Amino acid sequence: MTSSAPVKRLYIKTYGCQMNVYDSERMADVLRPLGYGMTDDPEGADLVVLNTCHIREKATEKVYSELGQIKRMKARKAEAGGQMTIAVAGCVAQAEGAEIIKRQPAVDLVVGPQAYHQMPELIARAHRAKGEGLAAEFSPEEKFDALPEARHVTGVTAFLTVQEGCDKFCTFCVVPYTRGAEWSRPAEAILAEARGLAEKGVREVTLLGQNVNAYDGAEGGLAALVRALAKIDGIDRIRYTTSHPRDMDEALIAAHGEVEELMPYLHLPVQAGSDKILKAMNRDHTAESYLRLVERIRAARPDMAMSCDFIVGFPGEREKDFQATLDLVAEVNYASAFSFKYSRRPGTPASAMPGQVDEAVKEERLARLNALLSQQQQAFNEAQAGKVLPVLIEKPGRREGQLGGRSPYLQPVHLDGPDHLVGEIVPVRIVTGHKGSLTGELVQALEPA
Ligand code: SAH
Ligand code: SF4
Ligand code: F3S
Repeated sequence: MTSSAPVKRLYIKTYGCQMNVYDSERMADVLRPLGYGMTDDPEGADLVVLNTCHIREKATEKVYSELGQIKRMKARKAEAGGQMTIAVAGCVAQAEGAEIIKRQPAVDLVVGPQAYHQMPELIARAHRAKGEGLAAEFSPEEKFDALPEARHVTGVTAFLTVQEGCDKFCTFCVVPYTRGAEWSRPAEAILAEARGLAEKGVREVTLLGQNVNAYDGAEGGLAALVRALAKIDGIDRIRYTTSHPRDMDEALIAAHGEVEELMPYLHLPVQAGSDKILKAMNRDHTAESYLRLVERIRAARPDMAMSCDFIVGFPGEREKDFQATLDLVAEVNYASAFSFKYSRRPGTPASAMPGQVDEAVKEERLARLNALLSQQQQAFNEAQAGKVLPVLIEKPGRREGQLGGRSPYLQPVHLDGPDHLVGEIVPVRIVTGHKGSLTGELVQALEPA
């Protein structure tokens, strides 16, 4: 490998969840040895990858409108005598496959979430003959084996995929179809990747999986994996997402009370507060069982900041069902949350259910839920004022002399301080809590660097 090799320009746009963010980074790792360097402008790029999300209709439609623009860039490049390859990766690729090329013929290749390690070969094939650039098998094992061991690291925090797929089949959701069955990476491979990250300066890892707490690649499950990761020198903070209430076992709850590196922030989606709706969603928990679970988690870790996903306007949701969601929110008191209007996804059981809810009703319920959730988030942030929190400094701030970091509760923290603190965990006195962030100041006078 020579550094003078001509650099081909690679543009990747990522939609959807953190698993896609991880996959995009790994795609860049796969393509780097072929001479591809990242660019943040698609115009004139040699390879454009859209790493897509299929979760809601809007997410899917965005991809096609983006493709329309990329197609024009491809034409401009061709006029200038160049060549642009367009790849669609991720969950839309998995769900729609070759249909994408039919709908947008400018697309050269379609590669599902379990096949992007084959991209170099696919690119070569796509250049030879149109229509061969399709790979959408399910084999996470093969993929992880084929990915380069070394990762290109840019910051002090990193995502680390430990589990993929979903066997839960919530009736509204496409993920079991786009990501395949639940599968866990062997613990050894994860620990090796984490050690590599730590050597490159990563201090915090977020373990990823569509059902991360269903992890069974180590004896003792996710709790055992977390304990092993916590022993790695340099890894001082561990988070994981997304969890299903069903897989939140005693060992994992206990780890929250015992493993100092495990951060007191938990994203634990409930989706709705009405048992009738939860049943129709096939969630396998009731509002009551979820509330009891949260209680047990908070008994192990009293300062646990809870986060959640909600869907409003699921088929059959009446005003009193929605009210039950508001009641549950009031009881848990969330530090942050994401809420969505139910989106009818082709092929899922809920899309064929009677009692589809009017768009206007969904809008109105979403607004009421969001008002309550942002009130809770702001109150949680304001309650930090006056406390001293350990903050991981992630990057220089926008202004000179400013720093950006995160509290244990995942809140962004802004403070003044020198750049050499990036990568350090420092005590910060929180001065003010805002809607979505905190302002603080360094506690002790710092020695010169
Ligand atoms: N595995 C995770 C979440 C995966 S998708 C879990 O089980 O919680 C992320 C979120 O998107 C879901 O939690 C859900 O709130 C939302 N979502 C999924 N399908 C949806 C749909 N059809 N319409 C609206 N929101 C949806
Ligand atoms: Fe989708 Fe449910 Fe699986 Fe989460 S648990 S990915 S919401 S099917
Ligand atoms: Fe979207 Fe696929 Fe993630 S559908 S939310 S990118 S698993």
